[in-house]
Amino acid sequence: MSDYKFIDHTYDVVVVGAGGSGLRAALGAAQAGLKTACISKVFPTRSHTVAAQGGIAASLANMGPDDWRWHMYDTVKGSDWLGDQDSIEYLCREAPQAVYELEHWGMPFSRTEEGKIYQRPFGGHTTEFGEGPPVQRTCAAADRTGHAMLHTLYGQCVKNDTEFFIEYFAMDLIMDEDGVCRGVTAWKLDDGTLHRFRAQKTILATGGYGRAFFSCTSAHTCTGDGNAMVLRAGLPLQDMEFIQFHPTGIYGAGCLITEGARGEGGYLTNSEGERFMERYAPSVKDLAPRDMVSRAMTIEIREGRGVGPQKDHIFLHLEHLPQETLAARLPGISETAKVFSGVDVTREPIPVLPTVHYNMGGIPTNYHGEVLTKKGDDPDAVVPGLMAVGEAACVSVHGANRLGSNSLIDLVVFGRAAGLRCGATLEAGATQPTMTDNLTDSHIARFDRIRNANGSQSVADLRLEMQKAMQENCAVFRTGDVLDEGVQKIDTVHGKLPDMNVEDRSLIWNTDLMEALEFDNLISQAAVTVNSAANRKESRGAHAREDFAERDDENWMMHTLAWADDAGKVTIDYRPVHNFTMSNEMEYIKPKKRVY
Ligand code: FUM
Repeated sequence: MSDYKFIDHTYDVVVVGAGGSGLRAALGAAQAGLKTACISKVFPTRSHTVAAQGGIAASLANMGPDDWRWHMYDTVKGSDWLGDQDSIEYLCREAPQAVYELEHWGMPFSRTEEGKIYQRPFGGHTTEFGEGPPVQRTCAAADRTGHAMLHTLYGQCVKNDTEFFIEYFAMDLIMDEDGVCRGVTAWKLDDGTLHRFRAQKTILATGGYGRAFFSCTSAHTCTGDGNAMVLRAGLPLQDMEFIQFHPTGIYGAGCLITEGARGEGGYLTNSEGERFMERYAPSVKDLAPRDMVSRAMTIEIREGRGVGPQKDHIFLHLEHLPQETLAARLPGISETAKVFSGVDVTREPIPVLPTVHYNMGGIPTNYHGEVLTKKGDDPDAVVPGLMAVGEAACVSVHGANRLGSNSLIDLVVFGRAAGLRCGATLEAGATQPTMTDNLTDSHIARFDRIRNANGSQSVADLRLEMQKAMQENCAVFRTGDVLDEGVQKIDTVHGKLPDMNVEDRSLIWNTDLMEALEFDNLISQAAVTVNSAANRKESRGAHAREDFAERDDENWMMHTLAWADDAGKVTIDYRPVHNFTMSNEMEYIKPKKRVY
């Protein structure tokens, strides 16, 4: 162990992750005059935000009347009343400003005839506090909005002297004896050196953990490394049972076909050629929120109305749309459909299936991005030195179900909020406590143990076993028996960790070791997810229990907090949902039945 030596760095702010939220947070901190580093395991413009397609929600009212209060209402209702309403108010109120910033930094949005930012309809976004027709609120750069956003933000970060540490794999949070986060350790992939970043604030922007499942729209890099570091630091994750299935992943391949396809007029049919969403959501039909569309598709397939030889998927039709619309608004998915399903979207429907897409749960934070934990009677105790943003965080604005295009806006609004918070609370260059080895010994011990793992089970086999268990036992519909079986299966995989095998012992470009570290990160998140799901005995948003079919506000309108120990044993507690708003411009939106 003594062979390992850290190279030390000191910054005011260290951001881990260079997707939309990480870049926006890093940019804000740098603009505030703070010495800022951004660490990423991939080149920044390869972060998973690059794959975001349909757009970013903000009530700009470019295509018709809109209001941030309507956006707030829709988001609360979409969250099935599990979202914190102070954070949701912050999100929707700040959204237009955050989008205009992107525009002014040169983000190449699609345009209306008058030159305004083009906005399209997305599921669950309506007018008049849910009483009016659907609204066009989703600002788009064709169907490559994430790509456009990521390149814009990276350029601004470079311009503002953010220092990038690219292809560094974050290992663990440096937590001191008082529970203060002092920074993060990382392994530099291309030369094998180990690094210790000391910072006044460490901001986790490490994205979701879609790769805990067998079929997902997420990149292979989406292993929730920050979430797992939080668990290892003895802190909880929140609402991990809420997994979003995107209705239109390409059948077999899992690649995303944007909801913008339905926003532009696409629709779903079953084997009888029926536009079945008319039965499930009579007013908004194919533009119902994702949890509802995914359930409807699953029911159609279960009841024998799936399409294809196995009757196991659904058709998405775009062939009736004008070719100019497809070329101008949906060029990316037209190509993806051709490559991954062989379909020419101008002639035939795309075979699609609900596919894991997003994690509503994550690291609990307030709307400044400060990480929270439960301490004694305080459910909102701030963890000093530690912040989280983006999909890694659970602010919680998405509650039990996120509305499409509320993810990109979450990234920039709360990335910006975190940067502002750093600017308001930190002094540039302030002296930081001396770094001592005892704070990082456990990081090296874990790294060395996994590097030298010489059991009989390959990482690929263990990962597959976990992914299949999560896919089968933590799916769109759930029952107690199936979830309990999932808990057992994940426990079994966890129990095999001591028998894991890593063949490559080198430190340079050792993808074998990196995948092992990522798998170790994933399995702890799988454990808290399936345990949290088995524990929540109601149906809410994306958590659809067939044995508890109704939402139960009396007993379950609360956030789940879940801790995991080294053996994968999960402990559960709760935090109250914030039933208050941020200002008196909006009153608390009272729960009611969620119908569309
Ligand atoms: O369908 C999509 O374009 C995905 C958007 C989102 O997840 O917000």
